[in-house]
Order: sequence, then C-alpha cells, then structure tokens
Amino acid sequence: MASNASLDADAKKILLRKIPHGVFICGVAEGDEVNGFTASWVTQGSFEPPLVVMAVRSDSTSNGIIQRTGRFSLNVLKADQKDLAAVFFKPQKAIGGRFDAAPFSLGPLGLPVLDDAIGAVECQLVGQVAAGDHTVFVGEVKTATLHADGPALELSSTGWQYGG
Ligand SMILES: Cc1cc2nc3c(=O)[nH]c(=O)nc-3n(C[C@H](O)[C@H](O)[C@H](O)COP(=O)(O)O)c2cc1C
Repeated sequence: MASNASLDADAKKILLRKIPHGVFICGVAEGDEVNGFTASWVTQGSFEPPLVVMAVRSDSTSNGIIQRTGRFSLNVLKADQKDLAAVFFKPQKAIGGRFDAAPFSLGPLGLPVLDDAIGAVECQLVGQVAAGDHTVFVGEVKTATLHADGPALELSSTGWQYGG
C-alpha cells in the first residue's frame, strides 16, 4: 500500500486521541490457562448479529490465544475500578496472575467473567485484520452477563493515553 509522506504526525496524534474509549478487561482461555489484559480499543460493529471490534497488540500473549481459540470475553469495568485496570496492563509473574487481584468465574463459553464489574460479554471470533502492530478482531456476542448496571470506566477519566 502507498505510504503517505505528507502525514502530519503531531496533528495525527492529537486527532486520533480525540476518539473516546472505554476501559475493559479482555479475558481469554486456552486449556487450563486463563489470561486477561486491559483493552481500550473496543467498539460495537453491528446490531444484528451483535458484533464487537477490538484491536489487540500483535506481540501480546492474549493475541495468540485469541487466534488459537477463536474467542474472548470483554468485562465492562465500573467507573471506580481504575486500580483494577492498572493491574491488568502491568507485567505479571505468570500467565493469568493478574486474576489474583480479581475473582472471576468462567462464563458459558468458558471465558473469564469478573465477579466485580458491571458485567461481561463472551464473543466468538468471526473475522480479523492483521495489517499493523495490532490485530483487529471482530467477535460475535454470544453471551451477556449483567451483574449491576451503573456508570462505566472511561479512558478520559483515568489520565492515561492509549492511542495517537
Ligand atoms: C490505557 C491502556 C489501554 C490499553 N488498551 C489496549 C488495547 O486496546 N489493546 C491491546 O492489545 N493492548 C492494550 N493495552 C496494553 C495491554 O494491556 C498490555 O499490552 C498487556 O500487557 C497485554 O497483556 P498480555 O501480553 O498478557 O496479553 C492498553 C494499555 C493501557 C495502559
């Protein structure tokens, strides 16, 4: 594909950082192992069937698990769960170790569903685009577990940046 030599990198960063994002914990499972990570590049992609779109770093542990298993969960955090989101993007001693900070159970599709969150959806992978340093995954929402409705954690409230 043609490169764009006229791209203004500063303007690009400022503009892309205006895209509003939530903060989620993506859960994955393979065999007896579970893993989870903080994801903000998430949006809805279709009403019918209900699709979600999530971009996942190509070199992350979870990316390979999603590729191999074809499924992932998305846990929607409460507005006051910033500390938990921080646990899930930091390095961990062993795969799945971040869940020591957050009790969970396995949902109907066998994916991690946090006990303390607004709720979670479990998705079956239906498509993907691997064209940059992230893979864009498209998942069909197969199950939805609502624990307690309320305000969700938004990236803008955290002071963190992931984008640009
Ligand atoms: C605010 C914030 C948002 C993030 N959003 C994403 C995201 O949307 N996709 C992604 O792949 N990584 C995202 N990350 C980075 C992952 O959480 C991080 O790379 C994690 O260590 C990956 O875990 P894993 O290698 O165990 O799968 C984000 C990090 C932060 C701080």
